[in-house]
Amino acid sequence: MSRRNRVSEAVIRRLPKYYRYLKDMEKSGVERISSRELSDKMGLTASQIRQDFNCFGGFGQQGYGYNVSELCNEIKKILGLHKNYNVVIAGAGNLGQALANYVGFEREGFYIKAIFDVNPRLIGMSIRGIQILDIDHMKDFIINNNIHIGIVCVPKDKAQEVTDQMIECGIKSIWNFAPIDVETPADVAVENVHLSDTLYTLVYKMNEI
Ligand code: NAI
Repeated sequence: MSRRNRVSEAVIRRLPKYYRYLKDMEKSGVERISSRELSDKMGLTASQIRQDFNCFGGFGQQGYGYNVSELCNEIKKILGLHKNYNVVIAGAGNLGQALANYVGFEREGFYIKAIFDVNPRLIGMSIRGIQILDIDHMKDFIINNNIHIGIVCVPKDKAQEVTDQMIECGIKSIWNFAPIDVETPADVAVENVHLSDTLYTLVYKMNEI
């Protein structure tokens, strides 16, 4: 049975937040942290944190706290961030270009190998040395360059089509920014990122206050 089957979605969703907080603490030179201190910082309960970590066999010494850099490394491994990943982006518009311009992904091991678009005015350009290629070449490129992750930054009505093309070439992971939930087979991971959903939630909260 894979880990995905054993660990709940809610725990998986909290792991990146643990990783982010622990990485910051490690950078600031914090060596040890108790689950209570971690819970105060993160806005979770200490028992929630202990329960979450128990899903992976614990990590901490009772009463002595967690070693921050060990815990950070463990969570990094659990997330799979100790490996490098090759990435392509479909859609070289505002969002595709912004993502390609962000150097932080490389620092975490995500290497954007190419961007694909249909617009002849964009094809042939490059962003930080990453070439914008014709979408017609995407399939061959994916097959020949061991691409792990496809980022979808095309208009809504093209998002499923582009996702399907990526999957046909063996991509197992789709990060979709178009405002529809793209569908993928069971063996392909997908994260649909809807930035405006969080904006609408924000506005709701603002109007409730
Ligand atoms: P954009 O219009 O600037 O860029 C879209 C790009 O996709 C264009 O360059 C277009 O030529 C290309 N394209 C169209 N059909 C294609 C196809 N079949 N294959 C490859 N490329 C194709 O749009 P933008 O702002 O970059 O947004 C991209 C997607 O992300 C949209 O679905 C949008 O709703 C969504 N989004 C954008 C946000 C933003 O801040 N820009 C925020 C949240 C969502």
